[in-house]
Amino acid sequence: MAYYKRKKIWKLKDHKVTSEIFYNTRRDFLKKIGVGSIFLSSASLISRPAFSSLYPPAVNKSYLINRPLTVESLATTYTNFYEFGSNKNIWRRASKLKTEPWSITIDGLVNNPLVIDVNDLIKKLGGIEERVYRFRCVEAWSMTVPWAGFSLNKILSLVEPKTNAKFLKFETFYNPDIAPGQKQQWYPWPYQEGVTIEEAKNELSFLATGIYGKQLPNQNGAPLRLVLPWKYGFKSIKSIVKISFLSERPIGMWEKLAPKEYGFWANVNPNIPHPRWSQKTEEQLGIEGRIPTIIYNGYEEQVSYLYKGLEKKLQDNLFR
Ligand code: MTE
Repeated sequence: MAYYKRKKIWKLKDHKVTSEIFYNTRRDFLKKIGVGSIFLSSASLISRPAFSSLYPPAVNKSYLINRPLTVESLATTYTNFYEFGSNKNIWRRASKLKTEPWSITIDGLVNNPLVIDVNDLIKKLGGIEERVYRFRCVEAWSMTVPWAGFSLNKILSLVEPKTNAKFLKFETFYNPDIAPGQKQQWYPWPYQEGVTIEEAKNELSFLATGIYGKQLPNQNGAPLRLVLPWKYGFKSIKSIVKISFLSERPIGMWEKLAPKEYGFWANVNPNIPHPRWSQKTEEQLGIEGRIPTIIYNGYEEQVSYLYKGLEKKLQDNLFR
C-alpha cells in the first residue's frame, strides 16, 4: 500500500459531499415511497439482487457522528481490493465476483461450528441495522459512511467460543480465475486478517452487508466484510468466506508481507507514524484540505480499555 499522491479522482465537478441531514432526509423519503433503488449510482448497480427487502435498514442512532458523509459515488469507486488489482479503480472488475449463493464457514475452537449461506446467517441473527462510522485507511485518506450489517458479537453468541479461543482469523475467497490480482504470486493469498476475541466482542466490531442503505457492491466487499472503525482500513477484510476461532494469533496478509508497516493491532494513532509517512493528518475523500487524525479514529471512549497495559508495545510498534 502506498501513501497516495496521485491525482484525486474526486476532483470532478459532480462530486459533492452529502451532508448527513440530506442523506437521512433522502433516505426517509425513498423509504416512504418505496423506490430506494432509483438513486443507485452506476457503481452500485452491480450490488447483489437478492434480499434487498432488508434495505434500507433502521438507523442505529447511537452511532451518528459529527462529520459529513462521503459522497456515495466516491466511496464505491475509490476502493482497495487487491484481489482485483493494486489501484483504486477496480470497481468494474470486481463485478466478476459471484456473490450469490455465498457460503461462510465458522470453525475452530467453538461449540457450534457452522457452514451457512450469508442470507440465512442474516436471518438467523435477526436482521441488520445501519451505523455511520468514520473509516481511516493506513494510506492517510478517510471517509465517513453508513454501513448496514450486524455486530460481530452476534456471531460469538451463535457459535459459542470455547475458553481457549483467544483470536479470530478471517479469510477472503481465493479464485484467481475471476480475481486477477490473485495471479500475482508475491502476495500470500488469500487475504487474511485477525482480531483478539476481546476486540471481536467490542460493540463497534461490525460485519457489514450493505452501504448507503443498499447491499454492498462487490468492490466494497460483498456479501460480507468486517468493519473495525478504530483500526486502519486494511483490518476491515472484504468478501469473507471463513471465520476461525484460534488459540494462536493469526498473521494477516499485509503483516506477512511487511510486518514493520502493517502490524496486528493497527489502531489508528496519529502519534505513531507509518515507517514511510506521517499519520498525523488525513484527507477525507471528496473534501479539500487535511484534518487532524484522532486517536483510535475518534472511538477512544469505546475501545481504549482493550489496550490498557499494552501502551509500550504499541508505541514501539510491536504488534504482538
Ligand atoms: N479486503 C480484501 N479482501 N482485499 C483488500 O485488498 N483492502 C483493505 C480492506 N479490505 C482489502 C480488503 C484496505 S487496504 C482498505 S483501506 C479497505 O479494505 C478499503 O475499503 P473500501 O474499499 O470499502 O473503502
